[in-house]
Amino acid sequence: MKPLSRRRILQLGAGGIVGLGTPFLAKALQKEYLVAPDFSRDFTPPSTVTSLHRLATTKNLLFGTATDIPVLSRDAEYSRHCIEQCGLLVSENAMKWRALRPAPDQFDFTGADALLNFALQHNLLLRGHTLVWHLALPDWFSETVNTQNAERYMQEHIQAVAGRYAGQIHSWDVVNEAIEEAFALPSSRSDGLRVTPWLEYLGEDYLELAFRFAAAADPNAILMYNDYDLEYDRPDQARKREAVLNMLERLISRGTPIHAFGFQSHLLGHETRFNPDILQTFVRDLTSLGLKIMVTELDVLDRDLPADVETRDRIVAAAYEDYLTVMLNEPSLIAVTTWGLSDRYSWLSEFGTRADGLPVRPLPLDENMQRKLAWNAIARAFDQARSSPDA
Ligand code: XIL
Repeated sequence: MKPLSRRRILQLGAGGIVGLGTPFLAKALQKEYLVAPDFSRDFTPPSTVTSLHRLATTKNLLFGTATDIPVLSRDAEYSRHCIEQCGLLVSENAMKWRALRPAPDQFDFTGADALLNFALQHNLLLRGHTLVWHLALPDWFSETVNTQNAERYMQEHIQAVAGRYAGQIHSWDVVNEAIEEAFALPSSRSDGLRVTPWLEYLGEDYLELAFRFAAAADPNAILMYNDYDLEYDRPDQARKREAVLNMLERLISRGTPIHAFGFQSHLLGHETRFNPDILQTFVRDLTSLGLKIMVTELDVLDRDLPADVETRDRIVAAAYEDYLTVMLNEPSLIAVTTWGLSDRYSWLSEFGTRADGLPVRPLPLDENMQRKLAWNAIARAFDQARSSPDA
């Protein structure tokens, strides 16, 4: 298909955040934005580089991806690329409550153990995701957990899971997504805290409790707060950034053991309101609280981009490089993990589907494991990165 000319500006209707949120709110914020693919932009990767992780290590940084065992053991080609490209894996689903807790008094560590064994066997680090979240809870949770027993369930869970893998996990997403979705802010609460079962049962203290239980269970892991909707120069995201900073400030001032902040960074290919200074300021505000930074779930939504593959890939690659250039300039940044490595396996095939039914292309490798411009863009950003002093 003939590429669109550089000057042809594409008018795209942009939705809000992908998938897990409330679509009608996203729709309420819908506006027209402009995305222009730049056909003269150079995405030549640094020569001789074949592995993103090996390149990252030259800067004392880590690169990796989220994945799980069923696919790693089923798909040898994919697994070979994970081993080649990554130094760090994240459990995409295997360490969520739903996977680990078939019944209130029962744990099933099969998938999580298998992923750890894979990581150990191939000399990869492993990130744990996630100990406290309002989603991926087992069906029994709502009938079983209540104000009286919630603290006991949380403690028991964190002790059993983080305790089982103590000393073997690089970092834990202890709490995931505790602040309300950006476009839903201001929430029902002035502090922006998302109203979750944990908040309802335990009040704001649930945050501190989760980190304290995690520190007791695994004193060696980097303990993280992880969230999304924080990367763009939009009033809704500005409010979310402020709510996140305030929450972290409150927790840290009470001595809560939080060591790092995770930017999920599910980037939006159609979103033009990216302002490097705003992102940089936010990263530095987090760093000044004493936190290290990780990019934890990076991918680029191409749901609202044109069908033409070259156009789409260029816009996606530009989003990766523009974003990572800012993040990788910060000495507090220690690792980048994408939410999947190849378009063959992306959550966006389910949560970010295109209206035209074409397969999504959000990740560094295509569905045939070929490097895309997105791979080049990530490599270019790592090549230009500042060395991390103490990853
Ligand atoms: C997603 C997984 O990738 C999917 O396989 C699953 O069906 C739903 O959850 N933010 C998170 C991740 O913190 O846990 C989510 O993972 C993606 C959004």
